[in-house]
Amino acid sequence: MKRVLFVCLGNICRSPTGEAVLNKMIQDHRLDHLLSCESAGTAGYHIGEEPDSRTQAHGRKRGYEFETLAQQFNPRKDFERFDLILCLDQSNFQNVKKLDPENKYAEKVKLLMEFATQHPAREVPDPYYSGADVFERVLDYCEDACNGILAWAKKS
Ligand code: 4NP
Repeated sequence: MKRVLFVCLGNICRSPTGEAVLNKMIQDHRLDHLLSCESAGTAGYHIGEEPDSRTQAHGRKRGYEFETLAQQFNPRKDFERFDLILCLDQSNFQNVKKLDPENKYAEKVKLLMEFATQHPAREVPDPYYSGADVFERVLDYCEDACNGILAWAKKS
């Protein structure tokens, strides 16, 4: 069983989208014996909140379900608990790397978009202060990368 953690800043827009997309793919492909996922934010501003209403509205239109509340990345547990820690952008990648000063978990910490094959972007844009188009782009990018994660889980 491989465990994946999606990490953004607030854990209310991008990383819950990654989690919802991957969970649907896991269900649709009956891969729950192989793969599970969660999400977290590097900041604590929104701990305990539901995903942003815009994130939920755009995601639901594509059939995704949002079931978890925001939590903050916990370096004392999460580096050990997860096999892959996938950061939604460079800034959060740096935030996570700073929590691993000895670089002990370097192999696990990656940019989510390293798994994408259809979009060349390496970062999932922060939609919080943006419009509907960026929420849609977050979904497009997460779908692309999650297909790559599924392929990774099947071969590892
Ligand atoms: P997320 O988006 O990191 O994708 O969850 C954000 C959510 C909240 C804030 C920034 C980004 N904020 O500044 O509160």
